[in-house]
Amino acid sequence: MSGRVLVTGGLGFIGSAFVRALAADGVRVLNVDLDTYAGDERRIAGVGGGLVETVRLDVASPDVARVAREEQPSLLVHFAAESHVTRSEDAPEIFFHANVEGTRVVLEAAEAAGCRVLHMSTDEVYGPCPGDPFREEEKLPGEGLATSAYARSKALADDLARSYAERVDVVVARPTNCIGPWQHPEKAVPRWATRALRGERLPVWGDGAQVRDWMFVEDAVSALRLLADRGERGQVYNVGPQAEGAPNLEIARAVARAAGEDESAVYLSHYDRPQHDRRYAVATDRIAALGWRPSRSLEAAIADTVAWYRANEDWWSTLVPDAEQLYAD
Ligand SMILES: NC(=O)c1ccc[n+]([C@@H]2O[C@H](COP(=O)([O-])OP(=O)(O)OC[C@H]3O[C@@H](n4cnc5c(N)ncnc54)[C@H](O)[C@@H]3O)[C@@H](O)[C@H]2O)c1
Repeated sequence: MSGRVLVTGGLGFIGSAFVRALAADGVRVLNVDLDTYAGDERRIAGVGGGLVETVRLDVASPDVARVAREEQPSLLVHFAAESHVTRSEDAPEIFFHANVEGTRVVLEAAEAAGCRVLHMSTDEVYGPCPGDPFREEEKLPGEGLATSAYARSKALADDLARSYAERVDVVVARPTNCIGPWQHPEKAVPRWATRALRGERLPVWGDGAQVRDWMFVEDAVSALRLLADRGERGQVYNVGPQAEGAPNLEIARAVARAAGEDESAVYLSHYDRPQHDRRYAVATDRIAALGWRPSRSLEAAIADTVAWYRANEDWWSTLVPDAEQLYAD
């Protein structure tokens, strides 16, 4: 990766991990982030010794094109998004603004600046998977089978990104669920981890049989760096652990064990997410063919995640009260 990199959403969970990795390699990063409730500059505080600068800006603002033109990056990596499915149930308009309009503005800005774009999509754009893991070409046009407002907005953004391939050198990544340091405690695994570490019970919604793939955030970052360098223009790449997927109940129990709690701390709640997708699954042959492999097993990813939360209670303890307000379980 050579030249300057413009990142959007670099104050968030995955974007900040990406920024930390680039800064560690001496790459200069300009980060555009609105710093919503989900952003936190502590995630990148002090990294890169002056190599990283943050501009607080809505990605859907026309100013993004000006910032990109002035910076003249060689690469733009677009993470910024509203990302929490539960919040999208009550406020879909914020999701369509940030995720769809924001992506359109970012693509226009990249065209004006003449740089490559790596767009962060998600495995949720396929909707629930009834059979063999989805291959990249199987995403339906538009919202397709995506269910939540979050997933529907990301499905539209994914289409938009690919529709620009004639005008912009764009690559689309569709990662599975990520876990690791600095994830907001409103999300499932950090919520379970922070509850287990406080000696509280771990709620799992519905029958707990919903299957997801989980990947350590540093593995997602290594995949994204590879795609930034070697991804083919206009191409889409699923990014995941090449595993069978695991039911939520099993993940919660593994989190409890890693925190030193008994599995009996995990319970099935009466509450369930509306349209709770039964299973996400993606085929990862395409990125594997580029030589990418995740570094950690699921067990190691959970152990490392819980260890980080154990050591960083100062950060998450102030976020937990608001995060817990979201839930009726
Ligand atoms: N977390 C996962 O497991 C996962 C899996 C697959 C794909 N993704 C995708 O990866 C990207 C990053 O996810 P994350 O978990 O780091 O999200 P996050 O919620 O932790 O961070 C999102 C960041 O975007 C910023 N942001 C939100 N709206 C903005 C706007 N209008 N303008 C500028 N900045 C704005 C926030 O301030 C925050 O810093 C998202 O596009 C998400 O859809 C996430």
